[in-house]
Amino acid sequence: MVEKVKVENVTKIFGRHPRSILKKVKAGVSKEQLLKQTGHTVGVQEVSFEVNDGEIFVIMGLSGSGKSTLIRCLNLLNRPTEGRIYIDGENIIEFDKKSLKELRQKKIAMVFQHFGLFTHMSVIENVKYGLDIRGISKSESQETALEVLKTVGLGGWEHKLPVELSGGMQQRVGLARALANDPDILLMDEPFSALDPLIRREMQLELLEIHSRLKKTIIFITHDVNEAFKLGDRVAVMKDGKVEQIGVPEEILSSPASEYIEDFVKDIDRSKVLQAKNIMTKPMALVFISAGPKVALKEMRSNSISSVFVVDRERKLQGIVTVEDTVMAIKENKSLQEILKKDYSTTDPETYIQELIPDATDSKYPLAVVDQDNELKGIIVRVSVLSGLV
Ligand SMILES: Nc1ncnc2c1ncn2[C@@H]1O[C@H](COP(=O)(O)OP(=O)(O)O)[C@@H](O)[C@H]1O
Ligand SMILES: [Mg+2]
Repeated sequence: MVEKVKVENVTKIFGRHPRSILKKVKAGVSKEQLLKQTGHTVGVQEVSFEVNDGEIFVIMGLSGSGKSTLIRCLNLLNRPTEGRIYIDGENIIEFDKKSLKELRQKKIAMVFQHFGLFTHMSVIENVKYGLDIRGISKSESQETALEVLKTVGLGGWEHKLPVELSGGMQQRVGLARALANDPDILLMDEPFSALDPLIRREMQLELLEIHSRLKKTIIFITHDVNEAFKLGDRVAVMKDGKVEQIGVPEEILSSPASEYIEDFVKDIDRSKVLQAKNIMTKPMALVFISAGPKVALKEMRSNSISSVFVVDRERKLQGIVTVEDTVMAIKENKSLQEILKKDYSTTDPETYIQELIPDATDSKYPLAVVDQDNELKGIIVRVSVLSGLV
């Protein structure tokens, strides 16, 4: 894993003399007290985290918790009162004007909640804007803009004005504009919060799809826990300017670090967060295809199970055999190969429980979790009870 962004002990205070009250902040004076006593607001306090190259890192928190303040520090729209921000190993706080301009034009781009489009410019002019100010030739910027518009599903809409587009489509323009400079890092500040639920879900899936194709590093802000867990490889939860917990969604769901986070995850639909790999178990017994039916029968008896998965030496799944068939095979001198059944269901480790429930509830065998090479990774027993559990 390559570290793309590193935020180290960043604090941002708003007010006339932010540095002068750093001491009080560090001494633990509360946000409310500071505002009352000094007229300063703590936006972000002593935040540290790293984001890996190609990761989707989500920052989640209630309104006012400091999410926007923090993300705006990453391109220095907000200059931190204290702390360091490294992008590709360079501390951008020390950048001169020229390096900073280059960073903002080429390496990092932002998508805003309210789209931030120029209303008097056509779709393609909006997308080209960033290229034009960089002095890219007309023909090249035209070509690039058409291409990114296609990427976001807006081919054919280039000459419309933003007002002629639905909210979802306007945000596609916002995304296209951000992608036009082919930045390494996308900063997205609640980009889908203004959209209605259906369009929002569509945009989330599309973002995941674009991400898997373009492999950008994405820092994505939301106050919606379902959105956070759906998109985030890892999620940071903010409260009162501080990061309370950082982890993969399953971690945050299964061991929330505070009551605040517990409240957040209370309403989450677990079946949409947990994947097959999170709930699978090791098979109690396995039989090699080269073994005879007697071995298979013994395995089943000693584990009190009525069927057992059969694998080859590389643990690739070959099939399943049942007690009855095995008993019959012993009598009739048949091999395991001859009594193999294939009418079990399989899933890959990344499948969400929600998706595997319909498939697997009525199967009489455990669900087999296999990877792309058909290697047996685990099994899920009694999927039917899951629908009640999650
Ligand atoms: N420009 C500003 N001047 C003064 N206070 C600000 C400014 N921007 C944000 N704040 C304050 O910083 C805190 C965090 O705000 P913000 O980062 O916008 O939260 P979020 O994006 O999580 O809703 C809030 O208390 C807010 O009032
Ligand atoms: Mg905000």
